[in-house]
Amino acid sequence: MEKYSIFGGKILSGEVIISGSKNSSLAILPACLLIKGKVTLRNVPNLKDVRFMLQVIESLGGEFTFEDNTVEIDTSSLKSFIASYEIVKQMRASIYVLAPLLHRFGEARVSLPGGCAIGNRPINLHIKGLKDLGVEFQLEHGYIEGSVDKMKGQEIYLDFPSVGATCQLILAGVLAEGKTIILNAAKEPEIEDLCNFLNKAGAQIEGLGTNSINITGVVSLSGCEHSIIPDRIETGSFTLLGAAVCEDLVIKNIIPTHIEAVIDKIKETGVSITQEKNTIRIKRTARPKNIDIKTLPYPAFPTDLQAPFMSFLSTSDGFSIIHETIFENRFHHVAELNRLGADIKTEGQTAYIKGVKQLFGAQIMASDLRAGFSLVLAGLMADDETIINRIYHIDRGYENLENKIKKLGGDIKRIK
Ligand code: EPZ
Repeated sequence: MEKYSIFGGKILSGEVIISGSKNSSLAILPACLLIKGKVTLRNVPNLKDVRFMLQVIESLGGEFTFEDNTVEIDTSSLKSFIASYEIVKQMRASIYVLAPLLHRFGEARVSLPGGCAIGNRPINLHIKGLKDLGVEFQLEHGYIEGSVDKMKGQEIYLDFPSVGATCQLILAGVLAEGKTIILNAAKEPEIEDLCNFLNKAGAQIEGLGTNSINITGVVSLSGCEHSIIPDRIETGSFTLLGAAVCEDLVIKNIIPTHIEAVIDKIKETGVSITQEKNTIRIKRTARPKNIDIKTLPYPAFPTDLQAPFMSFLSTSDGFSIIHETIFENRFHHVAELNRLGADIKTEGQTAYIKGVKQLFGAQIMASDLRAGFSLVLAGLMADDETIINRIYHIDRGYENLENKIKKLGGDIKRIK
């Protein structure tokens, strides 16, 4: 398995260009299954998860090309409505094919996604909403089998503003008969991007960016072109890298409003950040002030940046507290950071970070995508060499990470 070798303790500088959003791509690609015609998607990040979603679509009969961050995709002739265990167990977002397959075939057989490192991640809200639209389900041998003649629009209330359930039910509502209203919907920018894409294809969705999405079903959708929004989590990741180890970092191709909560928290630590329209400029501070963070649904502080922010705070001045409210098991990086000399304790969903003077290199292990980035950041902060194992987690969601860091002067190498 591949590893990273990082020699940290250096001060970096330069500029980085943010890639397209992984989570927007993972919602918009399955949405193409609703469209009998050619779709062109630009600014698609070349990531393991994106290439995998394209394989899922190909396994169902779709055709695509993917070059220079542009996807040309045509799902006019689908031949299967089955998403196998082998596929879904590798990437939970494959579950997004469920609603489109129900529209295309009147039935779908999709493996129930298992849990993952950060939690058991049920899909009960996806199923409940689809049942509201008239879909009947059976659970057999770990597969959910759905069938419906024609989905009928309904008012659906989400017990929790789940990103996945909101995407799934938008994919269901756009071709259902009549009106579908999703209440207590998630408001993440990736959902707004999905709705903008679907409206370009002829859907009628209102309430974008709000917690009540109003959809008037249409008979069909047609091919279109769309450019994926920049990845706000990669933006936040590099903003934290700048705050920790860069004397001058310029981050380009971003939408600052998408990470307002993160920028606000970083400013609270005493770091100076300036923003122009789609650029951020950061200058590190030697010892960040201690702060408290609570993760909540958008537009509040995002759970995906909890781990990277913890690395940044590990050498802060005093005590910081991070409370994780979205996932039940998202502190795997704590033990790894403590191996680098951090002083962090957890009790349930709360982490107590006692700032230390300095981190020191060691062998550590990535457990999931964002924890993986938090370890890269800690490695860049730590003196001497840090070896990070299981970096395949990181490849899922950060395009060209080591090249982007090398360009800033970071000493990071991928070793086989
Ligand atoms: C999406 O996951 C993202 N993934 C995650 O990013 C992100 O952390 C998460 O949203 C929260 O923002 C993609 O977009 C592909 P949820 P998702 O449904 O849709 C519970 C990354 O690193 N829940 O909003 O799975 C669930 O257990 C990944 O890019 C139910 O109980 O998140 C969790 O506790 C990690 N029942 C909470 O809601 C359901 O039916 C939030 O989950 C669905 C969710």
